[in-house]
Amino acid sequence: MGIRNLINITDLKIEELNSMMDLADNIMDNPEKYYESCKNKKLATLFFEPSTRTRLSFTAAMMELGGNVLGFSEAGSSSAAKGESVSDTVRTVGCYSDIIAMRHPKEGAPIVAAEKTTVPIINAGDGGHFHPTQTLTDLLTIRREKNRLDKMVIGVCGDLKFGRTVHSLISAMLRYDDIEFYLISPEELKIPQYVKDEMDEYGAKWKEVRTIEEAIPNLDILYMTRVQRERFFNEEDYIRLKDSFILDTKKLEIAKEDLTILHPLPRVNEISVAIDDDPRAKYFTQALCGKYIRMALILTLLGLDKEV
Ligand code: NCD
Repeated sequence: MGIRNLINITDLKIEELNSMMDLADNIMDNPEKYYESCKNKKLATLFFEPSTRTRLSFTAAMMELGGNVLGFSEAGSSSAAKGESVSDTVRTVGCYSDIIAMRHPKEGAPIVAAEKTTVPIINAGDGGHFHPTQTLTDLLTIRREKNRLDKMVIGVCGDLKFGRTVHSLISAMLRYDDIEFYLISPEELKIPQYVKDEMDEYGAKWKEVRTIEEAIPNLDILYMTRVQRERFFNEEDYIRLKDSFILDTKKLEIAKEDLTILHPLPRVNEISVAIDDDPRAKYFTQALCGKYIRMALILTLLGLDKEV
């Protein structure tokens, strides 16, 4: 595969996306085949923003490939706290590692990083912009649940303005045929114009709605997101909008029997815990898929995917 860094999900062609998912499926079925494939390799995880699933699934992924992991989990424990630039940090860490996964509050930070080092850079989330490895996770989960990625009606709900997982998910799904979107958000947290333009460019059908109930009977996938508190300029706006959408068992009564409910997590209160036992709730399966697709991504970027 030709790619060196993963900054945006569109860096991957559809065939590359599909073969990475095939590899993840294979790892899931035969994990022992891969136990030593990253022996003597090091992954650096540079997290300038909080994370549970992304950072720990990257760590677990590298461990299960027989490699090692170094890094930091908050900006405050790195030299960023002393005023070091992202460029200098990455250039330095490139001397100690074979591949870097980084999360940063500033949009575009991973692009800057990729220019400063020769080791592959993975964008593990840049501000309110993109989150390509969450999208790989989402696609793998959808493909395993539905056995297809085309002909799908997808509802994305919550903070569509700052929710980077949604921006990357839409970009990726547009590459498959016959995809339709319901964009469920309050007026203030609407999807950015550039995402609408992208949907139009691909000729996808999309509709903005203000309630879950308007969309839910039509959906194959419902992708819930939390309101991104850390991206708000003032706390009052956050408090006003934080409970805009809560998925509960009542709203699910009018949903399809084979709806798949996803959420990148963390959940605050936008999905009632009573739904966790519903067979349609797949957000913890999704978290598990995240480890396997990251194993496939690491192997691919290190050029080791064909060796096993
Ligand atoms: C998401 C993120 O960081 O953007 N979380 C994740 O990586 N699974 C979603 C979020 O924080 O709301």
